[in-house]
Amino acid sequence: MTGSVVIHEGDNLEVVRTFADASFTLIYLDPPFNTGRPRERAVETVRSVGAAGGRKGFHGREYERLRGDLRTYDDRFDDYWGFLEPRLEEAWRLLADDGTLYVHLDYREAHYAKVLMDALFGRDRFLNELIWAYDYGAKSRRRWPTKHDTILVYVKDPDRYWFDSESVDREPYMAPGLVTAEKAARGKLPTDVWWHTIVPTTGREKTGYPTQKPEGVLRRIVQASSRPGDRVLDFFAGSGTTGAVASALGRDAVLVDANPEAIAVMRERMPHAELAGPRRP
Ligand SMILES: C[S@@+](CC[C@H](N)C(=O)[O-])C[C@H]1O[C@@H](n2cnc3c(N)ncnc32)[C@H](O)[C@@H]1O
Repeated sequence: MTGSVVIHEGDNLEVVRTFADASFTLIYLDPPFNTGRPRERAVETVRSVGAAGGRKGFHGREYERLRGDLRTYDDRFDDYWGFLEPRLEEAWRLLADDGTLYVHLDYREAHYAKVLMDALFGRDRFLNELIWAYDYGAKSRRRWPTKHDTILVYVKDPDRYWFDSESVDREPYMAPGLVTAEKAARGKLPTDVWWHTIVPTTGREKTGYPTQKPEGVLRRIVQASSRPGDRVLDFFAGSGTTGAVASALGRDAVLVDANPEAIAVMRERMPHAELAGPRRP
């Protein structure tokens, strides 16, 4: 059965602050990469300190020290983290006890973010580093062409998180001759390295939204880390890939984006979606 979809337009921090604690089994976040755009750092940093009463992260001093160290290496990352940190804290609050958080990053942010997220959530909550590898577009001749994204996966409770490998779409064996015909026909369970094309430039899936992620990548995430009827949240929703996939798999999706173009694309992509009422300042 198709799951429901609710779309909210607005700044995600303001919107998700109104949602109840522990109300989502799966949260997928694909924030804009740190590519030099202007940021709201000063405002967000002050606000996050204030909201937490001076506490930074869930692991106090260790987190504070790491954040300070990383700041001295890279101001640009500090700006980015100032934007992301309060949003990750909200995501953690919204995650159910058996819930899982996926954060989609690129190679410029992934390592700094991993260290900070370990300190923020607890290293024992780290589940996986997924590598989504693709092979498309121009290739540098001055270094190895960068053709992968990193998705960091954290679970709210390492003893209780939901993970269903049986429901995940399988993939062909690289050397089918080495396994039985039966196994080859069934395909193999994907590992933490996912070869998957980008959204094809023509075809059913393409919405025209520039940062759209492929449904195949989201499908695995939704299949493994949620059950039919569970609630799934994406508050950097863009073209709504998470919602389209989750709804098709019988999950209920909540999507947030600040860009009116994203809202228009999502409404066209998911005609059954309900638009949440306009938010007033
Ligand atoms: C990388 S795109 C997400 C693409 C999406 N995963 C997809 O498959 O189409 C990031 C999105 O975050 C949105 N965004 C950035 N800052 C935001 C904020 N503060 N509140 C809500 N949305 C925001 C942008 O408008 C953009 O659509």
